[in-house]
Amino acid sequence: MGRRWPNVLLAAGAAGIAIGAAFWILGPSDPAIALTPDDPAAVALGEQIYDAHCASCHGDQLEGQPNWRQRGPDGRLPAPPHDAGGHTWHHPDVQLFRLTAVGPSGLTGGSYASDMPGFAGILTDGEIIAVLSYIKSTWPPEVRQRHDQINAQAAP
Ligand code: HEC
Repeated sequence: MGRRWPNVLLAAGAAGIAIGAAFWILGPSDPAIALTPDDPAAVALGEQIYDAHCASCHGDQLEGQPNWRQRGPDGRLPAPPHDAGGHTWHHPDVQLFRLTAVGPSGLTGGSYASDMPGFAGILTDGEIIAVLSYIKSTWPPEVRQRHDQINAQAAP
């Protein structure tokens, strides 16, 4: 599963399309991209942002859409859960940030059709970090620890 993202990023790079400022400005190890699930202010802000911008697809309880592993008739995937039962926690902070900023389609230069929009023009970088921090704050301690390890492995 984890292998999918590097390929997607390579494809986006190869396409040479300036999809969104976030993708190009932030290097793979940008230290500014670090979730803060222990910061109550960030988590509270993130919860508001989640309810306003993410819950309609990803669910009020982060449960995702029904049958989220099965593509719909249009070939698109439903929104996956962001709770510990999904695979959001399989991805390091920087990948979660980029995906939220430019959307799954933006990551591939538009070659991949997805219902999820990019939020770069709607949310600030800090708001994107806050909403992802809120998501991480809901995971049980062992999943948060595993996600910390994934981040450590992704660091140069
Ligand atoms: C219009 C529906 C919609 C909205 C609104 C939406 N998403 Fe998504 N999201 C999706 C879909 C559909 C996918 C599956 C991606 C695909 O097409 O492969 C997804 C995937 C993701 C992923 C990748 C998860 C993984 O396991 O790989 C992340 C992270 C994510 N969304 C974060 C967010 C955040 C944060 C918000 C709110 C700021 C948000 N999404 C709002 C539909 C949505």
